[in-house]
Amino acid sequence: MNRREFIRQGAAVSLLMGTGLGNLGCSRNLRDEIAGPDIGAAGKGTALAPWGWEILYYASLAPSGHNSQPWFVRIESEDVWVVGSDPRRWLPEVDPDNREALLSMGAFLENLVQAASANGFEAEVEVLAKKRHDQDVARVRLSQGKAKEIPLSRITTRRTLKTGLLSRELLAADIRRMEALTGGGLYYFPNASEHGQWMAEAALENFRIQFENEAAMSEAAAWTRLSDRDAVKFRDGLTPDGMEIHGLAGWWVRHFMDVDEVRGKTWRSKAIDKVAGQVREGAGWLVITSPGKDVADLIEAGRRFQRMALMAREMNIALHPMTQTLEEPHGKGQIRENHEPGMIPQFMLRAGYVDDYPDPVSLRRPVSWFLI
Ligand SMILES: Cc1cc2nc3c(=O)[nH]c(=O)nc-3n(C[C@H](O)[C@H](O)[C@H](O)COP(=O)(O)O)c2cc1C
Repeated sequence: MNRREFIRQGAAVSLLMGTGLGNLGCSRNLRDEIAGPDIGAAGKGTALAPWGWEILYYASLAPSGHNSQPWFVRIESEDVWVVGSDPRRWLPEVDPDNREALLSMGAFLENLVQAASANGFEAEVEVLAKKRHDQDVARVRLSQGKAKEIPLSRITTRRTLKTGLLSRELLAADIRRMEALTGGGLYYFPNASEHGQWMAEAALENFRIQFENEAAMSEAAAWTRLSDRDAVKFRDGLTPDGMEIHGLAGWWVRHFMDVDEVRGKTWRSKAIDKVAGQVREGAGWLVITSPGKDVADLIEAGRRFQRMALMAREMNIALHPMTQTLEEPHGKGQIRENHEPGMIPQFMLRAGYVDDYPDPVSLRRPVSWFLI
């Protein structure tokens, strides 16, 4: 056995035993090292002004399924942009109807609108897409307005947070605040409630179903960036830090695991165990619904989610989308049985207060990479 194999096998045992090894082997936060608008890359022949690069940088910090960052932007003129959805970044196995891609586009547009506002621009969004697979999603027109007091740190410090959620119930005042941000269509089910328990069971069951689906696992593997080298090369997808695999386990995964092993039995069963723990953690579940299923409804639902997500940290509330129930045919059937026909859930989110709110870790492509 050579040194690499020795370390690999030794660490694998720790990983499989799930030993808590604290911050041993803790990585640097790659996002801190490479974050920031790449305004220096301007002069690529686009009409984008420095403020445009900055606004698009903030837009790009939006969340997306598998962190696939489905957006592209075409600059028609300095203040007219077309925001589009890139088919190479769709997730046909788990999201064949592009529902999640459009929710993510909605989150991108919400960040864009808020960042524009902070920079003294009003951004008018016109939805162009009629069908879910249309690539030109929205045209954005910017005009001079009054700069609003929107702290951009809300955008830069927002993150998905999956571990450490406390069981303390969400305060009524915080729920009301989130309802106001989403403009209605938000429901809260505490973990102890019957529906909250159903959601936890359904989330785990559908996660398990998805993890037995080879095609879905191959797709997930294609968006997994285990080594720091791949993370920095692609600046998208799911990294060990983003998956909240900390300590020695994270170090081992970054250095010794091949992405093919993501499809293997050990990884799958560890992931299912982790989710079984997560669904019991936290205050409960938040559901964001939409009145319809059209492209505009999905964009709007993504924007509503993002408005809430941008304020969650100030309330010390962690949000974790758990989407498998909305993706799997089994889960969709369960939803039809458990919900009124007029109530269309678009996000199912674990929610809970946390003691410590860690900084974001998932990477983003620089603006110059998604300008076409
Ligand atoms: C539509 C949508 C669906 C998502 N579904 C899941 C999910 O099922 N499980 C999960 O752990 N994270 C999910 N996420 C969170 C993304 O993985 C996360 O946004 C992405 O990795 C970027 O990380 P960040 O939010 O910390 O910036 C989802 C996000 C969006 C926008």
